[in-house]
Amino acid sequence: MMKFAVVLLSAWLLCFAADAVQAAPIALPKGYNAWKKSERKVVTDKSSLFYGIHYIYADKKAVSGYQADNRFAEGSRIVVEFFNIKENPAVDGPKNMVVLMQKDKRQVKTGGWLFAGFGTDGKPSGIDPVTTCFGCHQKDASQRDFVISTKKDFGMK
Ligand code: HEC
Repeated sequence: MMKFAVVLLSAWLLCFAADAVQAAPIALPKGYNAWKKSERKVVTDKSSLFYGIHYIYADKKAVSGYQADNRFAEGSRIVVEFFNIKENPAVDGPKNMVVLMQKDKRQVKTGGWLFAGFGTDGKPSGIDPVTTCFGCHQKDASQRDFVISTKKDFGMK
C-alpha cells in the first residue's frame, strides 16, 4: 500500500515538474531596447495577426545565431514590440504587445524555445505557447530553428 502511494506521489511530482517548466514565471528581459534592432516593419493587411508596426530585438547570442543563418545557441533571446497604426502608418501608434522567444532546451513541445507574450505593462499575458504560438513558427521556419525572421531583417549580410 505504502509503495503504491509512493509511486503515485512520484508520478504526480513528475507531472508537476513537467508543467512547471513552462509555467515558471518568465520576465520580460530588462534593457532589450538596447539590443540589436531590426528595421521598422509595417503590416497594413488588417487580416494579419501582425497588423501594425513592429520591431525585432536580438541579444548578442541571437545576433550570432542570425549570422549563422538561424542556428541559435542556448539562451539566445529575441523580443518583438508591436504598435498600433493610428491614421498615418509612418508614425508608431500606441504599443499594444510584446513577445519573447528564449532558446531553452527543456521546452521540447515548442522546438526548444520558450515562447511568451506580455502586455504593455510588461506583465505576462498568460498565453499558452503550444496552442497560441508554436504553430506558425513550426510551419514557416522548421528549417530555420523556428525563427521566421533572418539576418536581412536586421540589415546584416
Ligand atoms: C499567425 C502566425 C504567428 C503566430 C500565431 C505567432 N507568430 Fe511569432 N512570428 C510570426 C511571423 C510571421 C514572424 C516574423 C515577423 C517578421 O519577420 O517581421 C514572427 C516573429 C516572432 C519573433 C521574432 C523571431 C522570429 O521568429 O522571427 C518572436 C520572438 C515571436 N514571433 C514570438 C511569438 C510568440 C511568443 C507567439 C505567441 C504569443 C507568436 N510569436 C505567435 C508569426 C506568428
